[in-house]
This record gives sequence, C-alpha cells and structure tokens, in this order.
Amino acid sequence: MRLLGIETSCDETSVAMIDERGRVLANLIASQIERHRPFGGVVPEIASREHLAHLMPLIEEALAAAGLERKGIDAIAVTVGPGLIGALLVGVAAAQGLAWGLDVPMIPVNHLEGHIVSPWLQLEGDALPLPPRFLSLVVSGGHSSIYEVLDGDPPEARMINRTRDDAAGEVFDKVAKFVGLPYPGGPNVERVARDGDDARFPFQLAQFKDETLDFSFSGLKASAIRLARQEKLAGRGEEGGAALADFCASFQRAIGDQILDRLERLYRQLRAESRVPAELGLAGGVAANGMLRRRVSAWCEERGITPRLPEKRFCTDNAAMIAFAGLRLRGGKSAADPRRQKAASRMAVGAV
Ligand code: KG4
Ligand code: ZN
Repeated sequence: MRLLGIETSCDETSVAMIDERGRVLANLIASQIERHRPFGGVVPEIASREHLAHLMPLIEEALAAAGLERKGIDAIAVTVGPGLIGALLVGVAAAQGLAWGLDVPMIPVNHLEGHIVSPWLQLEGDALPLPPRFLSLVVSGGHSSIYEVLDGDPPEARMINRTRDDAAGEVFDKVAKFVGLPYPGGPNVERVARDGDDARFPFQLAQFKDETLDFSFSGLKASAIRLARQEKLAGRGEEGGAALADFCASFQRAIGDQILDRLERLYRQLRAESRVPAELGLAGGVAANGMLRRRVSAWCEERGITPRLPEKRFCTDNAAMIAFAGLRLRGGKSAADPRRQKAASRMAVGAV
C-alpha cells in the first residue's frame, strides 16, 4: 500500500509517500519562511497563495522521489484542521480532486494527531510500533498539550492539559521578535542561548491556585519582554552580545522548567494510580529544541519511561506524520463522502 500525505495547515507545503509499514518513501517540504520573515510571522493570505503555487508540483516531485506514478497511489491522507482555513482548503481541495480522479480513499487527519505519532517515524525503514498506551507532549507554534493515547480501534487520544494562553513556540517567536532575532524565533533563541548562562535571569514558574496541570506561557512572555527592555535588548538583535545570550538561555530554561514541572506532577498522579505508561513521545516544532530534548529524555529515563524523540525533520510540520496518522490512528479509513469533507481552523484531537 502506498499512502500519499498532504499537509498545508500553516506555512509549510509538504507532501509525503509512506507504505503500510510506515516506511517514509518521500517527505518533501517547501518552506515559506523566507516569504513571511519580513512580517515577523505568518501572513495567512501569503500562505494560501504559496500553497497553491507549490502543492501540485511538489506532489509530482514526491511521486518521482518514491519512484511511483499517480496510479501507484492507494490512498490520500490530508490535514483537515486545525490551522489557517485558507491554507487548509488548498490541501483539502487537492486531495479531494486526486481522490476523485484516482478513485482512492481520502483519509481526513487532524494535524495534532500527526504530531502525536511523529516520534515513532524513522528516517529509514519501518516505523516503530505505537505502544498500546502512551503519553504525548505536543509543543508547537500553535499548541502546547499533553495527551494520553489509549489503545482502541481507532486509538483514542485524550487531552490531559492545554495552555490557558500562548503556546510555547508562539512565546519563543514573540520574545525573539522583541529582541530583534529573526523569525522563526525558536531556533534563533536556541542558537544564541548556546553561549549563555541560564542561571543569570531567574523567571518565576507559572502556577495556578487550583490543581490543574495546564500550561501558561503569557506571564513568562510578559516578564521576558520587561526584562529585555530593562537590559536594553529590545530590537538590538545579535548586538545584544553576552547579555542577549544569558537572556535567551534563561528564558529557554524557564520554558523547560514549566514543561518538566507539569510532567512531574502528572507522573506522580499516574504513579499513584499505577498507570505510568512505558513510553512518552515529545512532538511539535519546539521538540527540535536541544535543551528540551535533553531534559525530557533524562527525566523519562530516571523514571523508567522510554523517551521517543522525533527526528528533527519530523518535528516541524511535515506530511509524513500526516500520512502515518492516517494509517495508524485513523486505520486508513476514508471519509464517508470525501466531496463533502470540510476543513476547520479549530478542531479538537479525535474530532476528525
Ligand atoms: O510544529 P510547527 O512547525 O508548527 C505548528 O504546528 O505550530 O512549530 C513551529 C514552532 C515555531 O514557533 C518555532 O519557533 C518553534 O516551533 N521551533 C522551535 C525550534 N524549532 C522550531 N522552538 C524552540 N527551539 C527550536 N529549536
Ligand atoms: Zn504543527
């Protein structure tokens, strides 16, 4: 079986081919980052136009890279939400047209479910088997949540927590923009933080009065911006020198501190109920962050949990993870009537 994946929910046009064992035969990504950079963030109208220009040629390229022709496609998995509505519609319309023309099933996929399964994909060879029950921490530009995925047909992803305000990646991007680092902020903050002292500027841990495990990153964002202003780092970019490096390292550490705090509290609850799962997947664009990867891995290993870290190319948005979610979480099941399939900018996990 050859499954074509299509992802156009944000600023990356991506097309992949995988087989029934989750082997990635092609995974191409046309990034629009350079087109959005002058604006310091994603401009929805530009995103839709770029997807429109790049999607069909990218499908041909992916087929060529996998050594297939169009008639070799057995099914099409496509992101139907959440994301930018105009951007999603480009992918959904293309999938509908192809599925209709080739007379193959069209599998609607939730973008977050793609991230959830991404740590089990391999650069080469078969994907690892998804365990019957696992935890998934998705930290991206639009989402920050922990899920518990339970065995079933189809498997069920249950949201354990979410962010009450900004997502982790969004805060990386906004703080980076304020100090004059280029978009996307996450990788640039990480690069500058490498030479910094992460203990120089301690940030307070976000806590709620109730017992909730929810994240909150907007207080951290406000404190970081206040501090950057105090330290005269606003808009200075690389000229910020050693102070900028210490600032980035301290801010990055604070993001990690909050994530580890929520994981630890969840672990204690699960342990009390004897329900600690064997594996934990870290996913989403922020999962590319080296500090977070090291800390989450070490934390898991100390508690006897196997950490699953996605390959860097499967962290940020890509179609291989969408095809894989279509295969393993949606069981390859087609939409009842692909012609009526809708895209939605907001969509809960499990609600495709
Ligand atoms: O998953 P993704 O490609 O798109 C969404 O679905 O949101 O995530 C993009 C986000 C951006 O906010 C970007 O700054 C962040 O992931 N990101 C990083 C790193 N690489 C990407 N954040 C921290 N460290 C990184 N190395
Ligand atoms: Zn994403």
